[in-house]
Amino acid sequence: MINGSNIVIIGSSRGLGRETAKILCRQGHSLFCFSRDESSLETLKTECGRIFPGNPISVHAIDVMEVAGGSVNLLPLVQERFQKIDALLYNAGLLINKEFTGFKPAWINDIFQVNVIAAAAVIQQLLPLMGGKSPSHIVNTGSMGGVQGSVKFPGLSIYSASKAALATLSECLAMELSHLNIRVNCLALGSAQTEMLEEAFPGYQAPLSATDMAEYISHFVVHGHKHFNGKILPVAVSTP
Ligand SMILES: NC(=O)c1ccc[n+]([C@@H]2O[C@H](COP(=O)([O-])OP(=O)(O)OC[C@H]3O[C@@H](n4cnc5c(N)ncnc54)[C@H](OP(=O)(O)O)[C@@H]3O)[C@@H](O)[C@H]2O)c1
Repeated sequence: MINGSNIVIIGSSRGLGRETAKILCRQGHSLFCFSRDESSLETLKTECGRIFPGNPISVHAIDVMEVAGGSVNLLPLVQERFQKIDALLYNAGLLINKEFTGFKPAWINDIFQVNVIAAAAVIQQLLPLMGGKSPSHIVNTGSMGGVQGSVKFPGLSIYSASKAALATLSECLAMELSHLNIRVNCLALGSAQTEMLEEAFPGYQAPLSATDMAEYISHFVVHGHKHFNGKILPVAVSTP
């Protein structure tokens, strides 16, 4: 992949996805960004238009739960803009910080829907636009909590389990999709200062800003497939 790659970002209205989108736009890549919050997506589009006037980004409001359930198909939307996807960043995530004893079954379902099932569904839907002569790179946004043997924290059992599932899905898909020239990796992130972190851990100060983390993510999305396939890569100086 070189400058001018076609990149799809799922979960880009705020936090790491939003910062990553801005960096990739500044670098001249073509973006299609999805999230639920339409007005934040429109603001992102306007900001990116200012950063790089000749490089308009496409945005579309979707709930990945509807992709997971099969009522929304991203393929026709993305196909209108891209003949080929060079990279797909699955960044949407749901974190509910509650001790396991009080965890409602509906929350367990929601977390797995957004963090795992929708990731698989999005990848399945967009497969026809990936791979071929040049490789495509799928990057799933995992968490240090989902890495076997990492420090664990009360309140994050379901979230961490979902991220472990996403990591294993990434390893398996790397093997199963390699004949299509599709590479799949999972970034197991440590903490970065975002709305999600602030909501889950009020008052906690992460060692990295969202922009710092997004700089790493954006570089990895474009270049990581040259060095890695089927890897779960810890990206952390600490975990909360
Ligand atoms: N920040 C950290 O310290 C940290 C650490 C480890 C891993 N991570 C992971 O990194 C990713 C980004 O985290 P963040 O801190 O930037 O979180 P965030 O601020 O909550 O942003 C999450 C993004 O996902 C989108 N999203 C959530 N549910 C969605 C749904 N049902 N359908 C479509 N989009 C949805 C949100 O947009 P809408 O609300 O507009 O839909 C938002 O753009 C997540 O996967 C998270 O688990 C973050």
